Amino acid sequence: MKLLVCGGAGFIGSTFARQRVQEHGDEVTVLDKLTYAGREENLQDLADDPRFHFVRGAIEDREAVAGAIEAASPQAIVNFAAETHVDRSIAEPDTFVSTHALGTYVLLEAARTLRGTGEHALRYVQVSTDEVYGSIEEGTFTEHSPLAPSSPYSATKAGADLLVQSYFHTYGLPALICRGSNNYGPYQYPEKLIPLMILNALYGDALPVYGDGMQVRNWIHATDFAAAIGHVLEHGQPGEVYNAGGPDEEANMTVVRRIVELTGAQESQIEHVTDRPGHDRRYSLSSEKVRALGWSPGVRFDEGLEQTVSWYRDNDWWWQPIRSGDYRAYYERQYGRTLQP
Ligand code: NAD
Ligand code: TYD
Repeated sequence: MKLLVCGGAGFIGSTFARQRVQEHGDEVTVLDKLTYAGREENLQDLADDPRFHFVRGAIEDREAVAGAIEAASPQAIVNFAAETHVDRSIAEPDTFVSTHALGTYVLLEAARTLRGTGEHALRYVQVSTDEVYGSIEEGTFTEHSPLAPSSPYSATKAGADLLVQSYFHTYGLPALICRGSNNYGPYQYPEKLIPLMILNALYGDALPVYGDGMQVRNWIHATDFAAAIGHVLEHGQPGEVYNAGGPDEEANMTVVRRIVELTGAQESQIEHVTDRPGHDRRYSLSSEKVRALGWSPGVRFDEGLEQTVSWYRDNDWWWQPIRSGDYRAYYERQYGRTLQP
């Protein structure tokens, strides 16, 4: 298959691009703006593969999108491009609105203009999040659960999902949505809980737990989420939403304590700090529908976390430039303290 993968230089998009080229033999063109979170290093192992191409550009830029489509002649567009950190969306929501609302609209318009018919119809897959459903104290969200997003991140992602659905209903665009739970694994930017705690643990920095740390997340390894998106792309029904949740739910404190054990850090590094405003207490996703397409998650959290800690230990070439760059200033603004040099 020929694919245009938007946002493919990020954490999950690069995992998906690698999987599609190396395991499925697809030809993949990545279109990516290369924000602070997008890095060509994430795609380093594909750089010399003739089936892989990279175009720098933003999804809200019509010309960039047209150029990438011309270069890729895709049979499908898979859109990962997003601003993805809830804390940044609380501090500065602007780019969340422009990338998720305008960017998704520009991609959908391009797909609508270009789409063929019958077996040549261009498929569009929107990568989304369980956060569009809001928080759930008990039970699990299904694809029929109402959208009740809490943060500017999740609200703009929900808006993008609704726009995608409107293009299916109004124009018959074969568009699908895949909503994942919290991802972890190699190549995740260290603003997110797991890589932030791993690097801080290794450096002897404080481990900043928001509030009581009893918030629960449904963890999925990025290779499993990427595979679920692949199943939706190949076997999903146009117009449908598919949830892909991980096999394990863990309280943040449990995750942080495991990281302390795995890195040999000190429990005394754990510090409870001011809670995130509007913090969702628990996410939980039912994945029955995507399982019916033949997908199931392969990585249990304990095993995946251990592998992830080892990957960060062994790959400081990847994170050293981040930790010594703009990330330091972000960290200071967000946490009111500096990182160890
Ligand atoms: P990430 O922040 O690591 O990567 C996002 C990528 O999108 C980066 O390469 C960035 O440069 C690119 N990008 C941002 N704005 C762009 C724009 N306007 N035009 C083109 N490219 C742009 O994010 P991630 O964790 O890999 O998430 C990928 C997708 O998966 C997102 O849509 C996110 O909402 C969704 N998702 C993430 C998680 C998670 O836990 N990380 C869970 C469920 C769903
Ligand atoms: P995060 O990785 O930001 O993902 P999301 O907000 O999309 O779920 O956070 C995961 C959980 O960890 C969430 O409950 C917030 C919490 N958290 C902390 O306690 N401390 C931190 O420094 C960060 C980044 C997150």
